[in-house]
Amino acid sequence: MNLILLGPPGAGKGTQAKMLQDRHGIAQISTGDMLRAEVRSGSAIGNEAKAIMERGDLVPDAIITAMLAIRVQKPDCAAGFILDGFPRTVPQAEALDVMLAEMGLALNHVIELKVDDGALVERIAGRFTCSSCGTGYHDRFKPTQVPGICDVCGSHDFTRRADDKAETVAARLEAYHRSTAPLLPYYAAQGKLKHVDGMAEMATVAGQIEAILDGAESRLDSRGTSP
Ligand code: AP5
Repeated sequence: MNLILLGPPGAGKGTQAKMLQDRHGIAQISTGDMLRAEVRSGSAIGNEAKAIMERGDLVPDAIITAMLAIRVQKPDCAAGFILDGFPRTVPQAEALDVMLAEMGLALNHVIELKVDDGALVERIAGRFTCSSCGTGYHDRFKPTQVPGICDVCGSHDFTRRADDKAETVAARLEAYHRSTAPLLPYYAAQGKLKHVDGMAEMATVAGQIEAILDGAESRLDSRGTSP
C-alpha cells in the first residue's frame, strides 16, 4: 500500500504517518526529516537546503526527487510507504508518477488533512521533539506524561525546529498555498484524492484515515449511507 499525506505545515502529516507506520508496517518517508538529517550531517545537500528551509521556501525539485528515488528503493519500502511532505509541487508529482511506473508500483490513496490556517500556527509553535529518540510532542495537545521527561526513552533533552518561528511559518504556509495546493486538483483528476478533517483529535483523524484504507469511506460516498 502506497499513500501520500497532503496538507499544510502542522496539519499532522508526520503524526499520522508514524501511526500508520506502526499500524500497517509500511515505511514513513518524510522528506523534511531527510533534509534535516542532511543539514545535521553537513553534507553538500544539507548546506544548500539549510538556508532555504530556515526561510520557509521549498528546496529545488531536482534535489528532492533524486533523494526520494533512492529512498523508495530501500528494503523497508517493500511492503509500501507513506509519503509525508512529498510531493510538494506539480513537477515533483509528475516525477513521482514516472518513478512509480518504472518500479511497477501504484499509488493507492492521496489523503488531504484539512486544517484551518489559524490552527496551524498554534500547532507548530507548541511542537517539540525528544532529541534522543525523535518522539514528537506538543505543549498543549500531546505533552509528556511527566513534565520534562520523554515518555518513550526517558531523555530530558528536547528540541524545537529552527523553521517553527512565527515568521517562517507564514512563509511556509504561503509556499503551501502557492506550490502545493495545486496538487489537490492534480490528484482529484486521477481519482485518488480523499479528505479527512484534520481539525479533529489525533485518534479521530487516524480513524478517518483507516476508514479510507478499508474502503468504508468509498462505500459511504457511493451509497450515501453508512456501511
Ligand atoms: P516538513 O518537515 O515536511 O514540514 P511541513 O510540511 O511544514 O510539516 P510539519 O512537519 O511542520 O507538520 P506536519 O504536518 O508533519 O505536522 P505534525 O504531525 O508535526 O518540511 C520542512 C521544510 O523542508 C519545508 O519547509 C521545505 O523547506 C523542506 N522540504 C521538505 N519536503 C520538501 C519537498 N518535497 N520539496 C521541497 N522542499 C521540501 O503536527 C504538528 C504539531 O501538531 C505536533 O506537535 C503534533 O503533536 C500536533 N498535532 C498533530 N495532529 C494534531 C491534531 N489532530 N490535533 C491537535 N494537535 C495535533
